[in-house]
Amino acid sequence: MGLLTLMARRFVAGKTADAAMTAVRKLNAQKIATTLDILGEDVTDRAEATRAANDYIALLDRIAREGVDANVSLKLTMMGLEIDKEFCLDNVRRVVAAAAKHKSFVRVDMEGSAVTQATLDVVRALAKASPNVGAVIQSYLYRSEDDVKALNAAGIKVRLCKGAYREPKTVAFQDKRDVNANYSKLMRLLLEGGTYPAIATHDTKLIAECKQRVARNGMRKDQFEFQMLYGIRNALQRRLAAEGYRVRCYVPFGTHWLPYFMRRLRERRANVLFVLKNLFRR
Ligand code: FDA
Repeated sequence: MGLLTLMARRFVAGKTADAAMTAVRKLNAQKIATTLDILGEDVTDRAEATRAANDYIALLDRIAREGVDANVSLKLTMMGLEIDKEFCLDNVRRVVAAAAKHKSFVRVDMEGSAVTQATLDVVRALAKASPNVGAVIQSYLYRSEDDVKALNAAGIKVRLCKGAYREPKTVAFQDKRDVNANYSKLMRLLLEGGTYPAIATHDTKLIAECKQRVARNGMRKDQFEFQMLYGIRNALQRRLAAEGYRVRCYVPFGTHWLPYFMRRLRERRANVLFVLKNLFRR
């Protein structure tokens, strides 16, 4: 196994669904729910996109069969968004139908700003027919306040994150303080007017703020959930779950792990230093 593969294992549950299910069981035993992500993006081949949708349907069947606490997260560019929007919509519609059959849920991850509008269009089209699908909003985008308000009005479930792609200053805040301030603002809009929002961050200040707001608004702990990534702040995930909050861990698996791994490295300078140190230690 290469060194990079070895290091990616901190963030990726493994190459196969079997490995992912083992991780899910361990998390479930700690009262942590999960969302499974089959790694893949920027697919340009129709057969590959169709296969990806089939893999998700098989995964939803398996989740139901094995009775674990998991739903799924997927990327539209894996389902053919960059090939043809209607083709992509048909693929995801099949996945959402499978989720509905099993009373499960499909979260459509948000990718780069080139596909933000198309992604929200697809989620809205699917949500008209089924409540089993939800969107993701990134607090670094200027447009996100309008998007949150529109999704709240439509009763569509939102996961709020900061955003993991490199975006220009024409569309996104560049300063971390602005991204965090916008996160606070959008979190308030979601907690006060959204439908079962998912507060996806490892930022302890924002998590504390969320807890305070929930208590102040008299919300129950089952009216929203915290979400975090596999391999990041595990103790915090367990602690929140033990405190009675709903916590869901995003568990990616598969062979196409490099872009996901690179986004995790970029988020934190310490991760890059860790990789460099290990490369030179060889
Ligand atoms: P921030 O980056 O400020 O980190 C806060 C603290 O968390 C750090 O100080 C560190 O301790 C820890 N931490 C964060 N990242 C780390 C890392 N890579 N390695 C080690 N420690 C780390 N993005 C997107 O664009 N589209 C999407 O669909 C999603 N989906 C998604 C789902 C879930 C469940 C989560 C938690 C996140 C996403 N993201 C995402 C990623 C998100 O946009 C963001 O890049 C990361 O969550 C990091 O931001 P934080 O909110 O954790 O804050």
